[in-house]
Amino acid sequence: MIKSPTKNIILIGMMGSGKSTTAKKISELTYLTHLDTDELISASHQKSIQNIFDAFGEKQFRELEHEVAKNLPKENHVISTGGGMPCYHENMDVLNQNGITFYLSSPVELLFSRLKNKKNRPLFKNQLDQFESFLNERIAYYEKAHVTIDVSDKNVNQVALEILNFINS
Ligand code: S3P
Repeated sequence: MIKSPTKNIILIGMMGSGKSTTAKKISELTYLTHLDTDELISASHQKSIQNIFDAFGEKQFRELEHEVAKNLPKENHVISTGGGMPCYHENMDVLNQNGITFYLSSPVELLFSRLKNKKNRPLFKNQLDQFESFLNERIAYYEKAHVTIDVSDKNVNQVALEILNFINS
C-alpha cells in the first residue's frame, strides 16, 4: 500500500527521460494531481510548445516557463517539468523549495533513440554528438535535484515505484 505524501513530487531531466509518463503513473498510484509545466504554458496561450517557440522565440518561452515555476502549487501535486526548466533563471532553486525533486537520469544514447523520430521538440539536436553536448551543458543543473534516479533499463512502473518508495522510506 502506498502512503500518500503531501509534498510535491517534481520530476526533472532531459527531454525523452520519461518525466510526463512517470508523473502520470505516480498520479494514478496516489491521490496527487498531475501538472505538466509545458501543458500549463500551452494551455494559457492556446498554442503548442512548437508554436510558442515559432511565435515568440526561446527567450520569451523561458520567461513564461519561469512564471510557471514561481507559481506552482506548493503541495499535493506530482509535477513534470519541461527539460530546460531547471537550467534557466533560478528555476532549480524554486523547484527545490517547492517539493522533492527527482532527476530522471538516462544515458544519452537512450534519450537520442527515443527522440530522433519525433517532430515536436523544437530544441532537439538531430546529431548524437550535438545532443550529447547539449545534455552535458545541463547536467550540473539537473544534479542539483534532491534525488537522482537512474531510469535506464527500467519501465515506467519501476521508476514510479522507486520514487514512491523513496518518499515513503
Ligand atoms: C525543452 C523541453 C521540452 C519543452 C521545450 C524545451 C528543453 O519539454 O519544454 O521544447 O529545453 O529541453 P520535454 O522535456 O517535456 O520534452
